[in-house]
Amino acid sequence: MNETMFKNKTAVVTGAGGTLCSAVAIELARLGAKVALLGRTVTKLEPVAAAIRAAGGTVLPLSVDVTDAAAVENARQSITQQLGPCAFLVNGAGGNRNDAVTTTTEFQPAEISDKKPEDMRGFFNLDPARMLDVIKLNTIGTLIPCQVFGREMAQRGRGAIVNFASMNSYRPLSKNLAYSLSKAGVVNLTQWLAAYLAPAGIRVNAVAPGFFANERSRKILMTGDGGLTARGQNVMAHTPMKRFGEAQDLLGAVCWLLDDERAAFVTGITVAVDGGFSSSSGV
Ligand SMILES: NC(=O)c1ccc[n+]([C@@H]2O[C@H](COP(=O)([O-])OP(=O)(O)OC[C@H]3O[C@@H](n4cnc5c(N)ncnc54)[C@H](OP(=O)(O)O)[C@@H]3O)[C@@H](O)[C@H]2O)c1
Repeated sequence: MNETMFKNKTAVVTGAGGTLCSAVAIELARLGAKVALLGRTVTKLEPVAAAIRAAGGTVLPLSVDVTDAAAVENARQSITQQLGPCAFLVNGAGGNRNDAVTTTTEFQPAEISDKKPEDMRGFFNLDPARMLDVIKLNTIGTLIPCQVFGREMAQRGRGAIVNFASMNSYRPLSKNLAYSLSKAGVVNLTQWLAAYLAPAGIRVNAVAPGFFANERSRKILMTGDGGLTARGQNVMAHTPMKRFGEAQDLLGAVCWLLDDERAAFVTGITVAVDGGFSSSSGV
């Protein structure tokens, strides 16, 4: 990698208080970028900012909801003023909601019966409003920063964007309807924007992480004593490298895709970082 690629340039990382993008933000700062950390909860951003400051980096944590266009535009103005115009955008803000997933992996007659157990949520019991929350966060919450910071990149005639897709983008995982369709949307958005923004000198790519344990998925994949739940075992059986990803595993792919020299002719792709999950039928 060209070690000066990120030096003194401004990188904006959304979801920067989270498991994966906190590591991305810290790595971009290590490579010399001035990093703006976006997320809603300041207490999640502060430890990341502190780590960057402690290592001598320049950082600006900002509490922003990425689905709120006016708030993202306000953030852009602060960032441009304090760090300079955005050269690199990483759209890591995203996620799922427990009340937007089914509790069943396939149709069960009880979900349409009067005697449906209280804790059962099949497809026919899903609340469209909760699903829309997930779809909005992952799609519009990616699109809005692309518009706001992409406009600034277009004014300068260059820029690079990395979005966060998922294994769900390609084949939906059981229970995760809204999350899957929203992450499929992220791949599609990445391709559409790559074509649209090529004349503006902006490259748009994505990474598709496999299974990385974060606060939410840890509860789904792992037992309290460090073992695996049935779903965790199922994931492992379909992961040829036989482990969950660590945030550090993503850094090479993200930094490569952002690198305007190494990835100068790369736009519109989604790079799987998944220990082989998407290549394996598991059979
Ligand atoms: N972990 C995995 O296995 C995995 C696999 C595939 C894809 N991904 C994707 O990778 C990305 C990062 O995942 P992660 O594991 O690091 O998740 P995470 O730990 O939950 O981090 C996501 C961050 O997004 C922020 N966020 C959520 N809604 C937001 C909003 N409306 N505005 C601004 N920020 C918001 C959250 O902070 P606040 O709540 O404070 O806003 C949170 O810090 C996500 O897009 C996720 O879908 C993860």
